[in-house]
Amino acid sequence: MTPPAQSAAARPREISSDAEDYSDALLTGLRKQPKCIPCKYFYDAEGSHLFERICETPEYYPTRTELSLLRRHAAEFADLIGPDAEIMEFGAGAGEKIRPLLDALERPRAYRPIDISGAYLKGVAARLRREYPALAIEPIVADFSGDLSMPNPSSVRRIGFFPGSTIGNFEPEEARQFLTRSAKLLKGGGLLVGVDLVKDPGVLHAAYNDRAGVTASFNKNLLARANREAGADFDCDRFAHYAFYNPMQRRIEVYLVSMAAQRVTICGRQFAFADGEAIHTEWSYKYTVEDFRALAASAGFVPHAVWCDPGRLFSVHWLESP
Ligand SMILES: C[S@@+](CC[C@H](N)C(=O)[O-])C[C@H]1O[C@@H](n2cnc3c(N)ncnc32)[C@H](O)[C@@H]1O
Repeated sequence: MTPPAQSAAARPREISSDAEDYSDALLTGLRKQPKCIPCKYFYDAEGSHLFERICETPEYYPTRTELSLLRRHAAEFADLIGPDAEIMEFGAGAGEKIRPLLDALERPRAYRPIDISGAYLKGVAARLRREYPALAIEPIVADFSGDLSMPNPSSVRRIGFFPGSTIGNFEPEEARQFLTRSAKLLKGGGLLVGVDLVKDPGVLHAAYNDRAGVTASFNKNLLARANREAGADFDCDRFAHYAFYNPMQRRIEVYLVSMAAQRVTICGRQFAFADGEAIHTEWSYKYTVEDFRALAASAGFVPHAVWCDPGRLFSVHWLESP
């Protein structure tokens, strides 16, 4: 990552994720055995809007549970964060979860939402600027799984915010590496991170298999996006959304399964799919509170407070980076 623009009115900084990167990653993933498409590619503008709709389904408990924790404990977070902080949000999405925090914080210096979904982020930042005209809002279009270094010449207390259990999309070792990089970036501050908890497999299964089929559309948007951006000719109706909870690995596994033997052209290259062959599209790891605190500690954070809802569906952790 490079230093962001100083002006609150500036356009989002484009750090990565151009069309060539996308097509290359798509071809690389589909040449692997088993085939895969990295989950960050769910999020073009269409995917980001579909994710907003997932958050509204009755089965998808994480969003409403985390939002209620953030609203209920906003004053405690603000006390821990302190005045004059700069907030960096990883994977800001619709920019809804930052609001309780911005409303509670004392004189926040800046808000820097980072997201890979560039056009969508631009709209979210414009809306937030209208609602928080006195705040410097500096969106950054970037892939947070890469380099997180960014100079802090004014030594402002820097705070990370990482809601949505997006950290669960990393495999545990990748999550540890992300936390290690963010502990360095946030030195002298801390990270407020939302983490989905291990729970009844039936509740988890339903959350990724909503009755209205929005999660299925979100998953299939990977194929529709390839058709839009990589000259592919996927027939989305010949692939099925398949998601389940693997209790041994404590993760949701998401796939697109080919419903027939078929050939697909992508960027001028032919790919064969056997009947029943799967493309892996997402992991979503679930943690116990203790396991997540141990992971954060192994990455250099000092785990401090943790908040859970009464049903112990979701957790929000405050990790200090001394
Ligand atoms: C699960 S959604 C969560 C959105 C929001 N934070 C929430 O809690 O509702 C993940 C968000 O992270 C973004 N994202 C996913 N992978 C990313 C990556 N590697 N780099 C930057 N943003 C990413 C997506 O565009 C999306 O907005």
